[in-house]
Amino acid sequence: MIDQRLLPETFTVVSYRSHLEVARAITDMVVRGAPAIGAAAAFGLALAGFESRAQTAGELFSDLQSAAITLKAARPTAVNLAWAVERILQSAARFPGSSADEMRAFVLSEAQQLADEDVEVNKRMAAHGAELIADGDTIVHHCNTGALATVDWGTALGVIRMAWEQGKKIHVLVDETRPRLQGARLTAWELEQYGIPYEIISDNMSGYFMRAGKVQKVLFGADRITANGDVANKIGTYMLALAANDNGIPAYSVAPTSTIDLSLAHGGLIPIEERNPAEVLDIQLAGERVTPRNAKARNPAFDVTPHRLITGIVTENGVAYPPFEQSLRKMMNAK
Ligand code: MRU
Repeated sequence: MIDQRLLPETFTVVSYRSHLEVARAITDMVVRGAPAIGAAAAFGLALAGFESRAQTAGELFSDLQSAAITLKAARPTAVNLAWAVERILQSAARFPGSSADEMRAFVLSEAQQLADEDVEVNKRMAAHGAELIADGDTIVHHCNTGALATVDWGTALGVIRMAWEQGKKIHVLVDETRPRLQGARLTAWELEQYGIPYEIISDNMSGYFMRAGKVQKVLFGADRITANGDVANKIGTYMLALAANDNGIPAYSVAPTSTIDLSLAHGGLIPIEERNPAEVLDIQLAGERVTPRNAKARNPAFDVTPHRLITGIVTENGVAYPPFEQSLRKMMNAK
């Protein structure tokens, strides 16, 4: 994995040998972004297969089940994590042979297939989304939704990249995305490499640019989308969507169908991760600590944007529009 905590200053690739290390890397955000943690967990499960001393496929499957519990618990909000682990586990459950070694190889190949599919799905999503982008658009983008957040290409940033490659002259206002600064650190780093013009803004500036008539689209990803179209995404998305709505600016969530969780009726049921307050408090300005030593903080990592603020949800199977109850089901069933 690329250690995303060290970007943009340092590009380091780290390797892990056990599913526990992979689970820890997901929790600590060495790897982050909903599809990326799903793919990482799939390979974590494959590692668990090689760690196991099981002699038969049956014994191996029960070791995989225990590892799956650990991997799924690494982060709670993005449903792609549980989706990926369950998908691999269910394939393993259908494995016809009795040899543990053959099952180990099979699980690894299933993980690789899941990762490969993610790239293909992102490109399809990007093609659908790019149709919504007009030449000359300035787009506000939140968090990091690019190649780093997926296996490759990205979700919302993939749309931006595709529109740019189609020759559309676009400009990106990159929300810095406090507290972990995925926008300022990671999205800006990716945009540099694609050569796409951008400027970083602090999260509280987007309303200003919207009211000044400088923004034509708002794009973000999703970590979980419920049956009614509510979108859990990086903290700050809700306020961004509110401001977009107030200014009549279309706000699109871009996410694969693996991010849609039809088992939940609405966003109030999504578990929201609350991370260590140190992520909020450990900020420096000109090398100086900013907050009082004893300051306390809250750190919800995600919020839920109600579906009424979402113009459309771009998936690999097309763009879902309200009423989302129907359109999301259609996207899930289309191939
Ligand atoms: O806490 P993170 O950095 O894993 O959160 C990531 C996001 O919120 C992304 O916007 C989301 O995963 C969708 S992009 C692939």
